[in-house]
Amino acid sequence: MVYLNGEFLAKNQASISVMDRGFLFGDGVYEVIPVYNGNIFRLQEHLQRLQNSLDAIAVTNPYTNREWHDIFSQLLTHDLAPNQSIYLQITRGADTQRKHSFESLTPTVFAELNPLTPKTKLELIQGFSAITQADFRWQRCDIKATSLLANIMYSQQAKQNQVEEVILHRDQSITEGATSNVFIVKNNTLFTHPTSPNILSGITRDLVLESAKACQLPIQEIAPTLDELLSADEVWISSSTREVMPITQVDDQPINQGKIGMHWSSVYDHYQSLKNA
Ligand code: PDD
Repeated sequence: MVYLNGEFLAKNQASISVMDRGFLFGDGVYEVIPVYNGNIFRLQEHLQRLQNSLDAIAVTNPYTNREWHDIFSQLLTHDLAPNQSIYLQITRGADTQRKHSFESLTPTVFAELNPLTPKTKLELIQGFSAITQADFRWQRCDIKATSLLANIMYSQQAKQNQVEEVILHRDQSITEGATSNVFIVKNNTLFTHPTSPNILSGITRDLVLESAKACQLPIQEIAPTLDELLSADEVWISSSTREVMPITQVDDQPINQGKIGMHWSSVYDHYQSLKNA
């Protein structure tokens, strides 16, 4: 079952207009929200970011937070798997002809569930690889926009290189990953790019910072440089579907001799406790 514009439908029954600006232009925003044991994790934070994205593109939020909650709860009654991720997309809506500028339209609202199977700690401690690339995205990466061409290109490159993620840098500063936020640990301090239009302010990023605080790991919201990334004691990536993952090799160079760092382990454990709280 999926949700489309007020209806719960079988996926193959759900369709939209070819004049939808989401289809024509990628003119829309989205959220990915994890659900653990039937509980929607950090829903208010995701809905606040959704509101910020909608405000940035001048689309009126079609629902109140309570209405969103009811839609997701109804979707969840159709699927009994304990862990899911909600994919929610709002486009500006369908126009009568293709033109870049817009009138006020009725937004198209789509939501569906996907299975969520985060890796276990045993799987994570094997470590993962990443490559680096210059960040050629636009300067409003804070908007969670469905127009993701650059991120798609990077993700395909990750796949072709058989690595977990592409880590991006702008003017030698690490911004984030193609689909995640990036952290390094150097001399027992956690560094990550500050929230700014150059990154998506990840909900998991906030949870990682909250966990680091709880683990008494000092935090500096300062973007690491490319050199600092390569000589870091630990490198992590975070996202709602991947939680917090250790990266032990960047551009063929081992991080911490290819071994998992101790700070990752305690932050990971604290993150798990937040999920189960
Ligand atoms: N992406 N930065 C980028 C560019 C992302 O695409 C994502 C997540 C994040 C992490 O945000 P959060 O912690 O709120 O998931 C950061 C999602 C999962 C996606 O596009 O599927």
